[in-house]
Amino acid sequence: MDLGRQMQGRSLLQITDLTDGELFYLLDLAAMLKQEKKAGASRQRLAHKNLALIFEKMSTRTRCACAVAASDEGGHTEFLTTQDIHLGKKESVADTARVLGRMFDGILFRGYKQETVVALAQHAGVPVWNGLTDAHHPTQAMADLMTVREHFGRLRGIRLVYVGDGRNNVATSLMLACAKAGMHFVNATPASLVPDAKLVRWCEDRAQLNGGSLKVEHDPAVAVQDANVVYTDVWVSMGEEQQQSERLELLRPYQVNAALMEKTGHTEDGQLIFLHCLPAFHDHNTEVTRDLGALEVTDDVFEGAFSRVFDQAENKMHSMKALFVASAGGAAV
Ligand code: CP
Ligand code: NVA
Repeated sequence: MDLGRQMQGRSLLQITDLTDGELFYLLDLAAMLKQEKKAGASRQRLAHKNLALIFEKMSTRTRCACAVAASDEGGHTEFLTTQDIHLGKKESVADTARVLGRMFDGILFRGYKQETVVALAQHAGVPVWNGLTDAHHPTQAMADLMTVREHFGRLRGIRLVYVGDGRNNVATSLMLACAKAGMHFVNATPASLVPDAKLVRWCEDRAQLNGGSLKVEHDPAVAVQDANVVYTDVWVSMGEEQQQSERLELLRPYQVNAALMEKTGHTEDGQLIFLHCLPAFHDHNTEVTRDLGALEVTDDVFEGAFSRVFDQAENKMHSMKALFVASAGGAAV
């Protein structure tokens, strides 16, 4: 079966739901759809398709990426928060899934528990996509790899160093995606935030098969040596706010700043970029950082020559579009 046909009707709950080939298929499709949009030649591959977007947590990029991606291709999205629907309160996840599945052609879920998105997929009868849970953020990893490939022209052999909370949703999905793409992934994180050992073993094996590698390293200065991509995320993820003060103390030595970027040895040769899934605490302009200063990244890096964070944010839309078109667009690709 060709990959386009194979993707039809498929859910994406975590990166391992995709074969390595399917991940590359989606990245190729995203690049093609991006070119098409820039040329003003988008088609109507989601015409008459209705997509439900369920959000328990806040979002700027993921929500807007879904809305624009669907609209570009003639589809419609319905944004539903837990203030709007009965989910989990008056109605079970299974019943909600069965109702929405009778009306919509796909469901994106952003929220807390991975079990919720799994249950939606079990009962909906239409594709369900994970737009972030506590455990995984697979659509972010797709945008990340798309951005890396745009810059370097390839993924295999690229060294990506993730610096920060090594076991959060973004780190987990990125680690899985890098292993599938044959990249060298280094997770620079304190001992108390290392990713699950089983997950690390899986990624090591898969990376090795694909010509890549995986390493967990506690010293950020050692970790970033020879990095092509330095990546960070917030130190306190949504839902973990009560751990803020201990996290800040723990992760201060992992701040991405100009001195750390220098340690890569690649600041002169065009072989280095900086990525962040956003939102980022990079200066004093948010409510949270007004009194704290920059947290996970300093302004000189965030606003500096290596930063590709807004390409990455844009690519959320193109890669989300690829996912919608491939799994809900019928044979329209
Ligand atoms: N990166 C990301 O998922 O951003 P939002 O929280 O704004 O959706
Ligand atoms: N790890 C972050 C990612 C936000 C896009 C969080 O879950 O809040």
